[in-house]
Amino acid sequence: MKSSYEKPDFWSLKAKKEGYPARSVYKLAEIDAKFHVVGGAPRVLDIGAAPGSWSLWLLRKLAGRGFIAAVDLQGLTIELPFDNFHFIKGDLYDPAVRGELQALGPYNLVLSDAAPATTGNRIVDQGASESIVEAVMDYAFSCLAPGGAFIAKIFQGGAEKALLDALRKRFSSARGFKPEACRSESFETYLVATGFRGPAHSGQA
Ligand SMILES: C[S@@+](CC[C@H](N)C(=O)[O-])C[C@H]1O[C@@H](n2cnc3c(N)ncnc32)[C@H](O)[C@@H]1O
Repeated sequence: MKSSYEKPDFWSLKAKKEGYPARSVYKLAEIDAKFHVVGGAPRVLDIGAAPGSWSLWLLRKLAGRGFIAAVDLQGLTIELPFDNFHFIKGDLYDPAVRGELQALGPYNLVLSDAAPATTGNRIVDQGASESIVEAVMDYAFSCLAPGGAFIAKIFQGGAEKALLDALRKRFSSARGFKPEACRSESFETYLVATGFRGPAHSGQA
């Protein structure tokens, strides 16, 4: 019998019909509908971008405005030949990749749908997800423009509160949000922070 991860559901069928390689696109659409993070002509950094749904959704929404830089360990499965799009195949932990992305910033919005390769051991997977979120947060602090927003996926496991507390020190607002498009059995959720206060001052965490 197929697991619910293998069965095409409403969101998978909708993604296929609309030309998106992954159903995860509707999680970003829901987050944006609630928090209005994509507006104007923003510079956006999409971390963990493959197979490419979030980037394609952003490119369609921005319709030639703004700029999107994207990075993933794996290549995209769709062609995105847009002048305002730049993809780097690489590891966000690689200093050369970080430098290249930094040079394309600062960004008004840093998104991370990055997830570790899962092992099936929930504790191990949660730990790996938390480490990625910490690294992404730290990087976002260095490349976000004041007033910018941050979104990151995390596997729920207890670290969310501490991470939200850390975000609240650097943003005017931070909260957790689980889009309806997340599979019901999934333990992922998203941290959404808006109103970046800018570079840390001495004494600030
Ligand atoms: C759930 S997928 C992202 C789906 C994407 N948002 C979309 O809509 O097409 C998670 C991605 O995170 C990437 N990833 C995990 N760790 C990474 C890292 N250290 N650097 C770059 N990408 C990473 C994985 O390769 C994987 O493609």
